[in-house]
This record gives sequence, structure tokens and C-alpha cells, in this order.
Amino acid sequence: MRLSRYFLPVLKENPAEAQIVSHRYMLRAGMIKQQAAGIYSWLPLGLKVLRRVEQIVNEEQQRAGHIPLLMPTLQTADLWRESGRYDDYGEEMLRITDRQKRELLYGPTNEEMITDIFRSHVTSYKDLPLTLYHIQWKFRDEMRPRFGVMRGREFLMKDGYNFDVDRDAALHAYNRHMVSYLRTYERMGLTAIPMRAASGPIGGDNTHEFLVLASTGESEVFYDSTVTDLKLGNREVDYDNREEVAAVCQEFTTLYARTDETHDGALFDQIPEDRRKVGRGIEVGQIFYFGTKYSEAMGATVTTADGRKVPVEMGSHGIGVSRLLGAIIEASHDDKGIIWPEGVTPFHAAIVNLKQGDGEADAACEAIYAGLRARGLDPLYDDRDARAGEKFATTDLIGLPWRITVGPRGLKNGVVELTSRRTGESEEMSPEAAIDRVAQIYAAHL
Ligand SMILES: Nc1ncnc2c1ncn2[C@@H]1O[C@H](COP(=O)(O)OP(=O)(O)OP(=O)(O)O)[C@@H](O)[C@H]1O
Ligand SMILES: [Mg+2]
Repeated sequence: MRLSRYFLPVLKENPAEAQIVSHRYMLRAGMIKQQAAGIYSWLPLGLKVLRRVEQIVNEEQQRAGHIPLLMPTLQTADLWRESGRYDDYGEEMLRITDRQKRELLYGPTNEEMITDIFRSHVTSYKDLPLTLYHIQWKFRDEMRPRFGVMRGREFLMKDGYNFDVDRDAALHAYNRHMVSYLRTYERMGLTAIPMRAASGPIGGDNTHEFLVLASTGESEVFYDSTVTDLKLGNREVDYDNREEVAAVCQEFTTLYARTDETHDGALFDQIPEDRRKVGRGIEVGQIFYFGTKYSEAMGATVTTADGRKVPVEMGSHGIGVSRLLGAIIEASHDDKGIIWPEGVTPFHAAIVNLKQGDGEADAACEAIYAGLRARGLDPLYDDRDARAGEKFATTDLIGLPWRITVGPRGLKNGVVELTSRRTGESEEMSPEAAIDRVAQIYAAHL
């Protein structure tokens, strides 16, 4: 993309309505525009990051064997009456009446609908295990939408639902989700800690939330500081191997880590004092095992190998896709702007032309632009007729992790400058070497 032809409405001033850094930078970087309380348009730059986050979520769900589908945003009230949640859900549910006076709602979650799909088509244990998921807009009429996409009313969620023949198989699905979530967050450059949680309106007793530590988080968290050292890294996990998957979960859930809802002071006090941490966290996902709560209420049964008819065992698992953008920025920024982790950056590198209109500089930039694209990368070429300071301020604000700076003076010596947004360090090298280096950096992320 050439910046002169892009739509990047950056703001120079800090918007008064934004209280936290991620909201401020998403507005200033021209990523989102608020249309109503808690409802946003995703401008081109914001949409690009949202799509990258979605792509990682999709890849990791499918790696775990989970199958994508797409359910609608609108659901019928009758479906929710079957589970009893139409009345229970309360004011957070947006209720709509169509021209035939039929009652609809904008889905806040999809347990009922997925159970309806399942019961229409599956009757035998032979079709299990099955995990279906989608990435779809949700609506919850939050009392206090705030902090931009962190607590929206309309927000994008990945929600997945497992169907299993018995409790052990369902707990394996739970564990599989935990591991796939750990990998998902790590690929986005985040440390998200699974913490024992309380279940709320979804129901069930086995549940973990994933929290990204950040002072602006809405949850109070209590943890053993060594929990933040745990990394999944590049290890291969066989998602069909119950023991192996359970062992990874064990590793990540043994150290003390809880939210205020489940905090146990006596247990916490057993941790060595220098490792006892109290802080705040952003909830970026939650997994639930709830057994037969919905299948019993809605008549979703399967026949077992020995011919019995049993309600199917279920769980549901959510990732806050749009909230993740805020969480990533809270975890990765400085006073100049966002610093995108390589895994989710909207463009892989910025090319900054210090002297637009100079024949040699223009030609070198074009060659680097073409060279990066030939390597499968997506660069942003700042080809505006603007001062260097303004170009640097823009690429810093929008957070591109790598910048290649091209000017007539360097070109006389055959070099351009490659700068890391994170460390601020620059290195001179030939244009070809800069292309190679950037391609190498992204090799692990493409
Ligand atoms: N209003 C919201 N805006 C953006 N993301 C949200 C919102 N509500 C929930 N999410 C995201 O969707 C994920 C799965 O939904 P879940 O039902 O667990 O939410 P929740 O526990 O009600 O969230 P919260 O406690 O933050 O209100 C959450 O972990 C969170 O990341
Ligand atoms: Mg939750």
C-alpha cells in the first residue's frame, strides 16, 4: 500500500473521551470510529489488524481439530425460551421485534443455536467428538461501555462449542481449548494467564479465564509471579493425545493464579512472599465445561456404543477477538504510539522516503517496495510529500515494527536504514540486505 492512496485518518490531538492508552491510540491511529456508545466502525488500519487476529484464531482452532461454521447475529426468542435464558439474561440482551411481531434478539452468545443445529443433525456417538466454532459479532447492552473496543456493546467473538459422548471426552475438549488458546495468545505476542474463574450466566463449574496483565484491566488478579515465565513456545502438541494435552494444562494451571471471584487468601498466603503478586488483568478469553445443561433442556441426545440414549456433553469457549486489539496495545506501546508484535501488525514494514521526488530515492523505494512484496510481505510505503519528522511520527504512532528509511545521502553510500520500532535501534545496510532481513524476521510468522 502507498500511503498517498490509503485512508489513514490519524489524529494529532489526544481525543478527550479516551481514558486508556489503547483507546487513545486506536482513535489517533485512525483504526476505529465510534458510531454510538460501544459501537464502532473499523477503519482500514483497524480492520487489517482485526483480520490478522482472526486469522491466528482460525489457524489455531483448526490446528486443534475444531470446525468453522457461521451462525447469524439475530436469533429467535423461542430458541432461548427452551433453555430458560430468554427471561434470565436480563437487560444485557438486545430484544428486537420484526414486522410480523415476532420476537428476535441480537445474540450475546450461541449455546442455544448451536445446540439446535446439533440436535437437528447428530444422533449417534459415532459422529463425536465434534467441536464447531464461529467468529461472529455479538451484542450485549453493557451498562457502561467504555475503553473503546475493550468493553463494547457490539463486539467480535470467537465462540466454540464441543459435543462429546461422556464427561472424560468433554474434559479433553476443555483441555484442548486451553492449549489452543495459549498458543493463540502467544502468537499475538501476549502472555495470557489461565485463571480459575466463576461461571456467570453460561453455567457450569469448570471454567478458566485467560488474563493479560495490565494496570488498566478491569479484573483484580492474584498470582504467583513465576506463572508469567511459563511459555508454550514452539513445542508440538498432539491434540488427540489426552494425556499429553492434560499435562500441558497441568503445567499452566498448577501455580496460583485467580481472579477476585475465586481468590482464596489462605492458599495465596502459602506462596513465598516475594512471589505473591496482586495486580489487574484484561480478560481475553474464557472456557467452560458445563456438561448437559443445554442438551438436557433442549433435547440434544446421542445413542452410545451400548445403545443407551444420553444427553450430549458440552462446553463453550470464547475469545474476545475485538477486545484483543485493545489488550495487545495495552501490553505493547510507548509514548510515541503502538508497537505491534510481528504476528498481528497491519503492515510488515514501513518504507519512508526522506526526499519524495528525488529520482534516486523514489527509485530505491519502489525497488524495496517491490522486493518486499515479492517475498510475500505487505509493506506500507510513505510516499507523501511531507517532512521526515511527520513521516516518522506517523509510522511510530501506527506501530509498524520495522521501518526502512531511504534518503539521497545514504544512497550515495549504497545504504538505507533499518530501524526497530521496539528498541529504536537502527542499522545501515544495502537495500537488498534490508529486504532479506525483514523477510527473515517474518519467516516464522507467515
Ligand atoms: N462487552 C465486551 N466487549 C468486548 N469483548 C467482550 C465483551 N464481553 C465479553 N468480551 C470478550 O468475549 C470473551 C468471551 O465472553 P464471556 O461470555 O466469557 O464474557 P464475560 O465473562 O461476560 O466478559 P466480561 O466479564 O469482561 O464482561 C470474553 O473473555 C471477552 O474477551
Ligand atoms: Mg468471561
